[in-house]
Amino acid sequence: MNNSIEKMNIQWFPGHMTKAQRMIEENIKMVDAVCEILDARIPNASRNPDIDRLAAGKPRLIILNRVDLADPQVTARWKKYFETQGMGILETDAKSGKGVNNFVPAVKKLLADKISEYESKGQVGRALRIMILGIPNVGKSTFINKVAGRKAALAGDKPGLTRGKQWINIDSGLDLLDTPGILWPKFDSQEVGEMLAITNAIKADVLDKETLGANFMIRLREYYPQALVERYKFQPDPDANGFELLEEAAKKRGFLISKGEYDIERMANTLLGEYHDGKLGRLSLEMPND
Ligand code: G4P
Repeated sequence: MNNSIEKMNIQWFPGHMTKAQRMIEENIKMVDAVCEILDARIPNASRNPDIDRLAAGKPRLIILNRVDLADPQVTARWKKYFETQGMGILETDAKSGKGVNNFVPAVKKLLADKISEYESKGQVGRALRIMILGIPNVGKSTFINKVAGRKAALAGDKPGLTRGKQWINIDSGLDLLDTPGILWPKFDSQEVGEMLAITNAIKADVLDKETLGANFMIRLREYYPQALVERYKFQPDPDANGFELLEEAAKKRGFLISKGEYDIERMANTLLGEYHDGKLGRLSLEMPND
């Protein structure tokens, strides 16, 4: 099979990362637990590897968000994967609010020992402090708004936007510490960058859309060929490169530029847009090593 992946250049914003890292270091001692919000389609790529070090010793809750867009079977495998690492785990679709109601019980379960410890010191009902972390655009504001039941954090599609820290007090005895989004500080793999761009965690504009679309086609052919058959009405040729697959889809869509020449840039945009909108079905881009 032709799995040739094109090289791309990806830009990062080091200033924002340093700021976020410093904020975690300054506040980690104040919190009882750390909650990481991940994109269920790319749980590894949407994680910050430094959090393991920065949050060492703190109970951890993983939120797999956007489960509405992820492959349920793959999400179940990720759930097991994180559970075996001793972390609490929650699946949410923050946009519709599905799963969000399980957040408070999940935190209380994770911190059962801590709650008993507070109670034995006479601190019954002491608020639990949770640091909420996540890369930009993972759905952090949407999640916090749903948990808090009001417009607590501003949501918006602005990858890379930083905000200051803020405490959000929610009724059920939890204080959430919202932190500015953290971009990938030690990212050295093109694959991770591509997955972040495909899922809108970083602006796809900084990448070459055609190359991104071509590489995405290769990934789809490998994991979800049926999605190509159903959505774009062609059986992917195992020997075609990503651009040829885009061209094949463009042909089926009738994206003609001139006689015999098809608009693969338009097809790449269509492909990425349709994946974003869930029109290709529920597709995960990363599988756990289980
Ligand atoms: P952030 O604070 O982490 O930066 O992310 P934010 O809440 O602003 O969410 C980014 C986008 O992701 C928002 O869409 C939001 O509605 C969407 N989103 C958040 N959680 C989920 C989820 O569980 N499932 C789905 N399908 N979407 C989710 P937006 O700004 O309106 O733009 P768009 O990405 O929907 O086009």
